[in-house]
Amino acid sequence: MSRYAFLILPSHNRVYADAAPAMARAELAVLSAALPDGAIDDGSVAEADIGGVRYVTFEADGLTGADTALLANLSALYALFEVTGATGSELLRPVPLRRLDRYDDDLLTILKYAGKTNEQFTKLLLNVTLASSAFAGELSSPGDRRLAVLDPLCGRGTTRNQALMYGFDAYGAAVDARDVETYAAFIQRWLKDKRLKHQADFSPVRRDRRVVARRLTAEFAATKDEYKAGDVQRLEVIEADTTQVSEFFRKASADVVVADLPYGVQHASHAAGRGSPGERRALARSPLDLLRAAAPVWAKTLRPGGALGISWNTFVVRREDAAAALAAAGLEVLDSDPYRGFRHRVDQAIARDILIARQPVAPDR
Ligand SMILES: C[S@@+](CC[C@H](N)C(=O)[O-])C[C@H]1O[C@@H](n2cnc3c(N)ncnc32)[C@H](O)[C@@H]1O
Repeated sequence: MSRYAFLILPSHNRVYADAAPAMARAELAVLSAALPDGAIDDGSVAEADIGGVRYVTFEADGLTGADTALLANLSALYALFEVTGATGSELLRPVPLRRLDRYDDDLLTILKYAGKTNEQFTKLLLNVTLASSAFAGELSSPGDRRLAVLDPLCGRGTTRNQALMYGFDAYGAAVDARDVETYAAFIQRWLKDKRLKHQADFSPVRRDRRVVARRLTAEFAATKDEYKAGDVQRLEVIEADTTQVSEFFRKASADVVVADLPYGVQHASHAAGRGSPGERRALARSPLDLLRAAAPVWAKTLRPGGALGISWNTFVVRREDAAAALAAAGLEVLDSDPYRGFRHRVDQAIARDILIARQPVAPDR
């Protein structure tokens, strides 16, 4: 058994920084089940001071390069060390990290706006959801098929950008026209600035000669050779209510669905008088009503063996009610110990939690 310690990424948000070590332990416990080769002793995951600095520590048997490639993507991991020596005179040997990241991190950080989901938390939610799916191996090495991630409440696209960063295809639905416009302007500028070969289009979707939505599509690759070979990442954002996603995205086409629910109905008062009537109605729905209406539609888009991850404000929706809404949609809710370790305070009005549910391999629909 070897002992390891990792440094937590410094966070700009103090409240999140306080919660980070406990969340990192829960994330590690979920991801450890997806390690390709080694095994982490779950009981050994702890926090420790080494030389006056706080670390998350764990013990593991035979971690290989494939294992550390997975651990390198932990959302809070800054640096990983193998620890030798006795308590008080530890020696830390850096473990080389090879993250999945394909692009500069300004893809995730340039857009700043009220209501943006914390980037580190978004990565955690995507990691935990993916690690709980049948496609967990993609967290350490990309397979032959490019994964598809759908965020059906995508706002200005924090989840989508994290999915692109990992090399996946990224899909989203946003009800607010300004969110789609802002994101379309951002991603087209970003692709140009990074000189990435791409093609992009932002145009109306018509049915029976009527405009029913607007859609942003883009294809791009990290290198010219990949682009030439057609090895491209796809991006698609639809301006639509989340309960309509199955009209725009094929059945069983998403490997992972990740959604950060509205934290209350306060968005509605912001939007009052602005936006389309449909948009105002959408934002005025309570988060639980929204989840109950949307979960069956999201489940339809999810591939067998895929997983759905949601985050929400526990002050407005109880965990049991959220879990019941996912179960009623035919999903298998994962509620064992590590999955209960993610609740954390965001501010006075928000205590955020997450729930993960799996699409059965043979869905009962
Ligand atoms: C907590 S925010 C998620 C923000 C997003 N993760 C980001 O970082 O931009 C919830 C989002 O859900 C959107 N929303 C609320 N009701 C919706 C609906 N019925 N259909 C689609 N989007 C909706 C809101 O506009 C908001 O962008």
